[in-house]
Amino acid sequence: MKRLAILTSGGDCSGMNATIRAAARTALANNIEMIGFRKGYAGLLKNDFIILNSQAVSGTLQRGGTFLQSARSAEFRTEEGRRTALDNLLKDDVDGLIVLGGDGSLNGALELDRMGFPVIGIPASIDNDIAYTDMALGVDTALNNIIYAVDCIKDTASSHDRAFIVEVMGRNSGYLASTAAIATGAEFAIVPEVELDLGEMCHQLRQRYDEGRTNALIIMAEGAGHAQDVAEGIKNAIGFETRVTVLGHYQRGGAPSVFDRLLGSRFGMKSVELLLSGTRGVMVGLSANSLTTTLLEMVANGGQKKLNDDLLHMAEILGI
Ligand code: F6P
Repeated sequence: MKRLAILTSGGDCSGMNATIRAAARTALANNIEMIGFRKGYAGLLKNDFIILNSQAVSGTLQRGGTFLQSARSAEFRTEEGRRTALDNLLKDDVDGLIVLGGDGSLNGALELDRMGFPVIGIPASIDNDIAYTDMALGVDTALNNIIYAVDCIKDTASSHDRAFIVEVMGRNSGYLASTAAIATGAEFAIVPEVELDLGEMCHQLRQRYDEGRTNALIIMAEGAGHAQDVAEGIKNAIGFETRVTVLGHYQRGGAPSVFDRLLGSRFGMKSVELLLSGTRGVMVGLSANSLTTTLLEMVANGGQKKLNDDLLHMAEILGI
């Protein structure tokens, strides 16, 4: 092997730069050149890349986002688009490709591998909904961002005797909401996986206020419904003033946590080592703090990772 390539696809997350840097430096240590396609598969289709020498990745480890930039490419989803991508990889003399991204991006990686091109996938999505890895890249930093914001909101909730609903990301996944609820001591977590019983939640809120509690905190995943509607519901049912804060894309950015710097570095290094050893068509993952590999085919067939019931149970018990 003489030349490898890397790209970041789909929604960005913190830790992507640490991964790119580690992959580039591991390749260089093995006398292999690393190139980076800009803006994910869109850049691959335009053959838009930069050479990632040691200097190019210097100073990137501690930066959030992805300096290669990212995008969601509709064209790459077509057979013709993927054919162009493969042609460009062959034209550029690339021997293997590393793809960072969520489920859609990893499916794209599988398609390329099926066409005969060696690909390694790296799970990167703050939703933590990718199967076969305990943690995806960016999740820990997003959670740290969330708890910082929620702690601030809790202060003002307590000053004003208010209930707050904080909406976090997670179109289909309640991982961030349930984990953040535990870590912030919230009363309730509302997740897309479980239908909300508004009446029961209001009943329990009322009980807590009757017992002397003066404020309440609810963490709600964006995919679980409209936070404003829930706030209105609470107001109508029990008369509490309830405010909504939507954290939005704030959650995805910022300097990566120690965990994400290490995870990204481990994922990046391992991906290059796998390609060098002739392994392909797999996703690297984390299980019991050890790195794992799973066939991209299995990742694609496994569907979305199921939310661990223990998390919800814990959030419920500790929120009482
Ligand atoms: O999949 C990651 C994610 O951050 C989701 O939690 C969120 O719903 C989505 O991306 C937002 O995507 P975009 O940045 O394209 O609006």
